[in-house]
Amino acid sequence: MKVLVTGGAGYIGSVTAHQLRQEGFDVVIMDNFSSGTRKSIPQKIPYHQADLKNLNQIRELFRQYRFEAVIHFAGLISVSESVANPWIYYENNVLGSLNLLRTMIEYGSSKIVFSSTAAVYGNPKRTPIKEHDPKCPINPYGKTKLVVEELLKSLSLRYSIKYVNLRYFNAAGADGVLGENHANEIHLIPLLFWASLGKIKRFSVYGRDYPTKDGTAVRDFIHVLDLARAHTLGLKKMNRIYNQSFNVGTGKGYSVQEVYERAEKISSREIPVSYQKRRPGDPAILIADSSMIRKKMGWRPQYGLDDILESAWEWEQKRVYQSC
Ligand SMILES: NC(=O)c1ccc[n+]([C@@H]2O[C@H](COP(=O)([O-])OP(=O)(O)OC[C@H]3O[C@@H](n4cnc5c(N)ncnc54)[C@H](O)[C@@H]3O)[C@@H](O)[C@H]2O)c1
Repeated sequence: MKVLVTGGAGYIGSVTAHQLRQEGFDVVIMDNFSSGTRKSIPQKIPYHQADLKNLNQIRELFRQYRFEAVIHFAGLISVSESVANPWIYYENNVLGSLNLLRTMIEYGSSKIVFSSTAAVYGNPKRTPIKEHDPKCPINPYGKTKLVVEELLKSLSLRYSIKYVNLRYFNAAGADGVLGENHANEIHLIPLLFWASLGKIKRFSVYGRDYPTKDGTAVRDFIHVLDLARAHTLGLKKMNRIYNQSFNVGTGKGYSVQEVYERAEKISSREIPVSYQKRRPGDPAILIADSSMIRKKMGWRPQYGLDDILESAWEWEQKRVYQSC
């Protein structure tokens, strides 16, 4: 199957493109390199610099390759940036997706796996969160993802579009060769190891007064390889499970404090830390009920928190070494 991976120079896109290729898919990457890098593109996968905001660039790619399916990772991903500058989030994430879907319809490309997020739920009323729980995103980032979910639903009723929305919880870890490669890192696990390696002065824990066992927020961490497999399965099983949304998490929550302590153990280093006030819009607990993807796709997470931390630690050390 000829598959377009948008955002394939980014973290999750590059790992998934690598896995898809190993499984025999014919993969092409498109990315505008706004946050992704050429270094992250897996070997032997053709890539094109193109921007989803530019309809003609997407059309040119579809004209050249006639993709049968798309995995759509490309997007801007920072909650705080989306609050500061909602305009660019709607333009990039919503207009970009509209252009992509318009071109898919024009060229008869009918299957899409979309990178959605736990942020569509906002402050959940209960946890673990189920797919049918209320969707009330509390920041523009989450809202743009929900708009695209709605767009997919509407288009699927009118055109021959089949979609699978994967709502990821906290993606982390590395695949041995590829990992998180953001210049401006915002995610917890890389930042812990950045503090451990002295790349930043200290790791900030936001909030010590949440209603959790140690007062720090609780999150569900999912290994990027497990996440990549959810996409591969989504494509393979699309004809049976289309037009649905699935949570992708482990169903197990760890507090920020627990992750920090385990990261210290795994890196055998003390990690300098500072405790800050809660950040507005950070829910206390985010844990996925992932029973639906388990049941309908036969997907199971194969990795736990220690695997995530060990692979991320190895990756971060390699990066520091490479950039010397
Ligand atoms: N990382 C997580 O924990 C997480 C959690 C939930 C959802 N997601 C979603 O997964 C997707 C991938 O996340 P990631 O962590 O790999 O992010 P990332 O920033 O590493 O990758 C996104 C890629 O998209 C590219 N891109 C952005 N706008 C583009 C455009 N207009 N045209 C072409 N390319 C464009 C960027 O250059 C980058 O390579 C995102 O859509 C994100 O919202 C991520």
